Amino acid sequence: MKAIALTQYLPIENPESLLDVQLDKPAPQGRDLLVEIKAIGVNPVDVKVRAPKETIEKAPRVLGWDAAGVVQAVGPEVSRFKVGDRVFYAGDITRPGSNSEFQLVDERIVGNMPQSLSFEQAAALPLTTITAWEALFERLHVSPTPPATTASAKSILIIGGAGGVGSIAIQLAVKVAGLKVIATASRPESEKWVRELGAQHVVNHFGDLPAQLKQQGFDNVDYVLILNDTDRHFPAAAAAVAPQGMICTIVENSAPLDVSLLKAKSAGFIWEFMFTRSMFQTADMQQQGNLLDQVARLIDQQVVVTTVNQVLSPINAANLRQAHATLEGGRAIGKIVLKDF
Ligand SMILES: NC(=O)c1ccc[n+]([C@@H]2O[C@H](COP(=O)([O-])OP(=O)(O)OC[C@H]3O[C@@H](n4cnc5c(N)ncnc54)[C@H](OP(=O)(O)O)[C@@H]3O)[C@@H](O)[C@H]2O)c1
Repeated sequence: MKAIALTQYLPIENPESLLDVQLDKPAPQGRDLLVEIKAIGVNPVDVKVRAPKETIEKAPRVLGWDAAGVVQAVGPEVSRFKVGDRVFYAGDITRPGSNSEFQLVDERIVGNMPQSLSFEQAAALPLTTITAWEALFERLHVSPTPPATTASAKSILIIGGAGGVGSIAIQLAVKVAGLKVIATASRPESEKWVRELGAQHVVNHFGDLPAQLKQQGFDNVDYVLILNDTDRHFPAAAAAVAPQGMICTIVENSAPLDVSLLKAKSAGFIWEFMFTRSMFQTADMQQQGNLLDQVARLIDQQVVVTTVNQVLSPINAANLRQAHATLEGGRAIGKIVLKDF
């Protein structure tokens, strides 16, 4: 089968950083599906895993953790899917990724693709949707039911609103939970994007966030979701969060965070890492398949829209290097997807 892989960890400008290769097609065991991949999403995690270092791989390593495709074969213990089903999933960081014509994935972390979407529209969604859903409804404990009145709606500051995760988090927060959403964006085009997705207020993440919130009428916010540069934004999040509020971040910090800033407010801090369930094979792994099914229904009901913003074709090393380079620039709006091998 065709695949895109690396053996060395090189700067993305180097044509050897991602290579077109031929690999053996794997066979499904246990609860695995063998999926024929039609489109892949590209995420910052791909860039972080590929970051230059001395290590040399003995065998080609396939990255990529976002896919949409068709089930081609199933393992003997599979019960949720059958051959021919259209599926979308992020996969498992400890296993070979989705940048290949065929991939094995545990059925518990797979969703049925929205019927109204093409493969490339669907491939934009899984990793960021799982992250945003888990962050909002499982880590921050936002109620998934909208409030009775708009006046009683709780508020959330989403830092990094126009990126892949922000683009779906804004929609889930506004359209599912009925929150008042203040998203951050630093450019006219990213501000336009977050407003179109439903953010009612926009502030600039390179400015003073608590001061800008006050200007927009918010003394504080019930929730803060940090989707970029935790080191920079944690102190502002601690200043902006309401007494008994909650902060969630999805991005690693490089210096210690001062959680004592939260003590007087009895405010909470929590991580979201969307690979936790598959990495530790938690008893509730199936929740990821379930939430993807739920979001697929929301898409088919036109409550939520896909976040794809750029499609490259075909799926090959040259196009994937281009997508990685764009993400490394840190200014992506929505999602970049590659389609068709
Ligand atoms: N823990 C997890 O499970 C998990 C899951 C997914 C992603 N992540 C991590 O979350 C981060 C975001 O992922 P993503 O897919 O949303 O990335 P992305 O699509 O590359 O995000 C790009 C956006 O980031 C904004 N941005 C740039 N610098 C910023 C800053 N200093 N503060 C706030 N926003 C800034 C930009 O907005 P402007 O153009 O308006 O400046 C741009 O729209 C990455 O580090 C990724 O690895 C973690």
